[in-house]
Amino acid sequence: MRKFLLLILFSLYLFTGCAQSTTTGPTLNLMPVPGQLTMQDGKFRIADSFKLAVTGQPHQRLFKGATRFLRRLDDKTGSFLTQNQITSADNDANAPLVINVKRPGKVMLHEDESYTLTVSPQKVNLTAETDLGALHGLETLLQLVEADETGYYMPAIHITDKPRFPWRGLLMDVGRHFMPMEVIKRNLDGMAAVKMNVLHLHLSEDQGFPIESKVFPKLHQLGSNGNYFTQEEIKAIIKYADDRGIRVVPEFDMPGHATAWFVGHPELASAPGPYTIERRWGIMDPVMDPTKETTYKFLDAFLKEMTALFPDAYFHIGGDENNGKQWKANAQIQAYMKTNNIKNQEELHAMFNERILKILTKYGKKMVGWDEILQPGITKSIVIQSWRGKKYLYEAVSKGYQAMLSNGYYIDLVQNTEQHYLNDPLPEENQKQLTPEQQKLILGGEATMWSELVTPETVDSRVWPRTAAIAERLWSPGSVKDVADMYRRLDRVSLELEYVGLTHEKNYPMMLRRLANGQDITALKTFTDVIEPIKEYTRHQQGTTYYAYSPYTLIADAARPDAKVARNFRNLAKEFVTNPTPKVTNEITYWLNLWQNNHAGLQAIIRQAPALKEIETLSADLAKVSQIGLEAVNALKANKANLSEEWYNSSIATMQAAKKQRGKTELVVLPGIEALIKKAAGK
Ligand code: ACM
Repeated sequence: MRKFLLLILFSLYLFTGCAQSTTTGPTLNLMPVPGQLTMQDGKFRIADSFKLAVTGQPHQRLFKGATRFLRRLDDKTGSFLTQNQITSADNDANAPLVINVKRPGKVMLHEDESYTLTVSPQKVNLTAETDLGALHGLETLLQLVEADETGYYMPAIHITDKPRFPWRGLLMDVGRHFMPMEVIKRNLDGMAAVKMNVLHLHLSEDQGFPIESKVFPKLHQLGSNGNYFTQEEIKAIIKYADDRGIRVVPEFDMPGHATAWFVGHPELASAPGPYTIERRWGIMDPVMDPTKETTYKFLDAFLKEMTALFPDAYFHIGGDENNGKQWKANAQIQAYMKTNNIKNQEELHAMFNERILKILTKYGKKMVGWDEILQPGITKSIVIQSWRGKKYLYEAVSKGYQAMLSNGYYIDLVQNTEQHYLNDPLPEENQKQLTPEQQKLILGGEATMWSELVTPETVDSRVWPRTAAIAERLWSPGSVKDVADMYRRLDRVSLELEYVGLTHEKNYPMMLRRLANGQDITALKTFTDVIEPIKEYTRHQQGTTYYAYSPYTLIADAARPDAKVARNFRNLAKEFVTNPTPKVTNEITYWLNLWQNNHAGLQAIIRQAPALKEIETLSADLAKVSQIGLEAVNALKANKANLSEEWYNSSIATMQAAKKQRGKTELVVLPGIEALIKKAAGK
């Protein structure tokens, strides 16, 4: 009966997406939520005697993956498991966990990634067509681990799971701020934990050329400040990713975003140079000269080298944000356009793309580019990555191109998780406008971690945990969209991501300690918990010019997107104005008191920590609005929703003043406090 009821509840959840969130809801702590899930009775207890076996015909990567699973399981549960390295000799079908795989998987687009998982009190069976599906199943198993007073266990369950979209990517921009090997590796582990399968490496920019070219060594020698991956390191990244079922798709951005190429090879550019590595951010003028045969000769040799280095079938050529200024200013290019009847910049860019497409095709690759490359007549085999708007995704697939979505997944904009989570590449309302064949051309999407404002120290906090919600959007059925339940699970998965080595949690207090200049950080953390870095690209518009070498260690860098304490407070305030139970009332009073009394402590820190001076008045404003919030709560506690018009007006004025952004951050508890003010004034 219980089994049946849970099945119905879960089906309802899948179809309506409106299940109530509870601490042990039907989605458990799983992210992404599996396609189908049925709870069963009982628990599989994890004992030191736990063993696993691998049967069938997996690729070697599964033995490594199974060994990593064991080590994560013993780390998480403190069990002294007896198996060391798993090999093909570990094939006892009577083992407590048996993984069965039909055939070796290939890390490529459209490979079978499905799996079936059955946990009963006695036995766990994980079966999959390929080892890639089995690796996903092992991640699910780790997320299933719970504890009670007796010990650690996995609940009895039956799961059948497969991805909704085959391309679930994360772009890492290693050109603007270089991200060394350990950053890439820990992010690959994070991706694997949430079943993502494409690492898009953005490998060339105005600010850096961070990869070794043996054919044209001046590219990295003069274009990278010494911050580059050797080809051996690139091979190691590809292997590390392949071990986790993740493809690596390289991007060499051309013809624009190319200043760093020109430091060593000014002959490629449309203006004479000389060039130096760009240190500012923005859209720059330098662009390759598409009218010279020598440009294509160079690119042919370069792409021959790079297409051999990266085994994936897809190869990204960028193609975005070419402002055309160097082309306009170059008389020879203008004459070429006239002679060849090329009417405008777009047509010239399209001609360049066609030439690059020919080269990539010759080297056996499929070309991917940003949506600017969708020019009339370009060959149907290319893939369009939509970033300027979702309309380009639909335009591309309507015309018969494969495409994927990044618009709405720009995690560098530091927006709330919910915005990304609800951004569906193919929501129900848009399905009618596309034929089933066109719908299939939507491959999925990619979160984009552009690195103007992040360093190896902060990058994880901009990627995680929010990208886990994007991973769910791309993996789980479209009907899974309960925001409250997503946030409940996100808090848990965030910790799982920390266990694989990501630094989004632990670097936060470290950065606060540095800002506090050695003082106790309690008051600083209380404050920073309720601010967020300002969103979109507004940080560049508030009087500070950021350079590649600027400090990214200030309060806006320590503060994290979608601040959890603030989000919980806003929800609490919503609850309080509709249903002020004693528990809710106590909680809201607790927080407002804390913030009201925090300023003196933070001021004391600031006196010895000049880098924090920029948020002193914001902290004072937090105290003021918290005082007002307490007045509102106290009035409502006394059943008086009739505070005077004068009180209301002065409170709103204080609130307005508190909205002013400072230190490139903003207070994000204000909507909650505003709701209290309105309620108390009977508005
Ligand atoms: C881009 O964000 N310029 C692709």
